[in-house]
Amino acid sequence: MIRLNINVDHVATLRNQRDTDYPSPREAALSCLGAGADGITIHLREDRRHIRDADAFEIRDLLRNLPEHVGSRGSKVLNLEMAATDQMCKIAAEVRPDIITLVPEKREERTTEGGLDVIKSRGPIEQIQAMCLQKNIDLSLFIEASLPQIEASKEIGARQVEFHTGHYCDAPKAQSHEYLPSFQMAFERAHALGLEVAAGHGLSVDNVGPVAQLAHLAELNIGHSVICHSIFEGMAHAVLSLRSAIDHALIQSKGLPTSNSP
Ligand code: PXP
Repeated sequence: MIRLNINVDHVATLRNQRDTDYPSPREAALSCLGAGADGITIHLREDRRHIRDADAFEIRDLLRNLPEHVGSRGSKVLNLEMAATDQMCKIAAEVRPDIITLVPEKREERTTEGGLDVIKSRGPIEQIQAMCLQKNIDLSLFIEASLPQIEASKEIGARQVEFHTGHYCDAPKAQSHEYLPSFQMAFERAHALGLEVAAGHGLSVDNVGPVAQLAHLAELNIGHSVICHSIFEGMAHAVLSLRSAIDHALIQSKGLPTSNSP
């Protein structure tokens, strides 16, 4: 089985749009786990455009105290994505996720645009790795399907590498299969070095299949498409609930008996 972690960042994006206290990323996480997700992924960005520090602590707490019907279905993990900075290192040491995924981060980007340059960023990555060893947190590095990056990840002592699937997902459908041989080669090399293989970014029900069929893939991290898909899965129900609340209010205001009246 391939483990599936759901990234709930964009529930926070919606909440922050109006600065309300809903929709709650914690509630979304509970719902994902209840539906069988193996873990929750969150990206605490430097500009806090979606997940905020308090969300990270709340979701950590949720995962430690899951209701029986969710918690009994195997252990669930918190994967904290972050940049390799001193500030993030301090926060992560307090949150104590199960795994940290280091990603490159540019303030002006809409989403993570490429993999980490593990060779160039070795110093900051090693600092985070030292904290991870101290706090018993696993380390994953988000990289492109490149052999030098895989080898550098192994040297640094990462447990996992997550391969960036964004370019595969963005490619026109007729060309996306061209990315698969390089993923397969990268997955094989990482596996041979003893690194766990994960993948993510841009994946959806329409494009995940060919990636999921590649040998050695152990984990997927998927977010944006799940939040988009759930909007339409839930739209009819949301409209019906609202219609019913309005009708109920009108009936009450006219003193008519409702289905709840004695
Ligand atoms: N994996 C990593 C390392 C990411 O940075 C992201 C986006 O936060 C994802 C997976 C999930 O990508 P998406 O939201 O496009 O599914």
